[in-house]
Amino acid sequence: MESMSFVLFGATGDLAKRKIYPALYNLYLDQKMPSPFSIIGVGRRDWSDEEFQASVRKSVQTFSRRAEMEEMDEFVQAFRYCAVDVTDPEAFKPLQSLVAQREAELQIAENRMFYLSVAPEFFDVISSSIKTSGLGTTKGWKRLIIEKPFGHDLKSAQQLNEKLGAAFAEEEIYRIDHYLGKPMVQNLEALEFANPVFQALWNNQYIANVQITAGETVGVEERAGYYDQAGAIRDMVQNHLLQMLMMTAMHVPKRISANDIRAQKRQVMEAVRPLQKEEVAQHVVRGQYAAGEISDKPAVDYRGEPGVRPDSMTDTFIAARVWIDDPFWKGVPFYIRTGKRMKEKSTRIVIEFKNPLEGLYHHHQDKPAPNLLIISVHPNEGIALQVNSKNPSNSGKIEPVTVDFSAGTAGVPEAYELLLFDALRGDSTYFAHWKEVELSWKWVEPILAAFRENLVPLHFYPAGSYGPDAAEKLLTADGFQWWLDQ
Ligand code: BG6
Repeated sequence: MESMSFVLFGATGDLAKRKIYPALYNLYLDQKMPSPFSIIGVGRRDWSDEEFQASVRKSVQTFSRRAEMEEMDEFVQAFRYCAVDVTDPEAFKPLQSLVAQREAELQIAENRMFYLSVAPEFFDVISSSIKTSGLGTTKGWKRLIIEKPFGHDLKSAQQLNEKLGAAFAEEEIYRIDHYLGKPMVQNLEALEFANPVFQALWNNQYIANVQITAGETVGVEERAGYYDQAGAIRDMVQNHLLQMLMMTAMHVPKRISANDIRAQKRQVMEAVRPLQKEEVAQHVVRGQYAAGEISDKPAVDYRGEPGVRPDSMTDTFIAARVWIDDPFWKGVPFYIRTGKRMKEKSTRIVIEFKNPLEGLYHHHQDKPAPNLLIISVHPNEGIALQVNSKNPSNSGKIEPVTVDFSAGTAGVPEAYELLLFDALRGDSTYFAHWKEVELSWKWVEPILAAFRENLVPLHFYPAGSYGPDAAEKLLTADGFQWWLDQ
């Protein structure tokens, strides 16, 4: 891998500590870091290099998935710190000198990776100062990794993209959606394209419906300031759920390359049927958690959480029916669902197959269960196929059994490791292209408007449940049910 400088804005922040440093260290242990490399941490605090290195060491010790610390001394030597008030373009000059000085010392080519792990209001000022300070004028390449949220609605996302576009080309921008870093989400590609058996079935002739769930047991935690403005629709649906939908529904590309895969995803999103504001209530369920119990412990209602407005109408749960109007998926509903304070932390994709043979077993009391392909994304990573089989110890009754592959969790790299490694080597397959982001916002816009104008009822659901009954009815209305709810 080419040598490079890695400039991290938000170096003293939570994400850096929990995810980025441990990921970099694990890549380092696997010899997947460029050599030599220089990491410059940028933050507001007035830290020395030693303080910064000590903080990196501590976060790796606390959060790394691996315990080996022998290479830590060598690892932290690559880190330098620079305090910058990012709202002041002049303050970028010392940063520019430090980056250049380290490049000279370590004989690093002028390849520069910038990582924005800061509050979104700083995204545009930082990117424009990278340009004006000369930091972004390199003889080698430059790239920008940017965290979420990418905008608050369609308009703000477009404005942000325009501002970034003044300093970086689309191919240089790596928009993080950490769901795309999850190994089983990445594995959807192989499942669909490396298995002729599934490829043959991946369409409306064989598939009855697709169910994508991302349930969480946590509530709003300390993030009410952000979350009460965002809601599940912006926090999870616009990005993570629609990304999983695109990954599941994409069609075989001509080649397996970042461009081709992203083009296929884009095509899916282009074919997603737009909702009119007035019809949102028919297809989207909006929920908010009421008091309840999570693992036998009482949990307060959302409106009772610190920092939440007592009359808040914010959605902590969304279920939606999505139609993809292309020849492959016409007539196949995709159901998506996400919520805080649900019964279990589980991210999964369930594909329910049609059953044209159902009638054959009409003399049986129970009709055979449908075949299901279950892709478990979290917490257990695996693929399972539910098939029907005779049970000899139950008078030959036909019962569903599960053919199960579990990836296990030991040794599996974390999302941030996979994503960072890809960005370091310039592979943007699992980063969100601007068009995907824009199309997702376009689809979400009428939902935001319908919520704002209260055209959609707000259903309360007890903490510790699978959401409001209305989410169940969304499927029963079509003759289906959510699978695997316990
Ligand atoms: C984040 C959201 O993007 O994803 C959080 O802002 C949410 O609200 C989190 O909790 C869920 O991620 P994961 O990886 O735990 O499923």
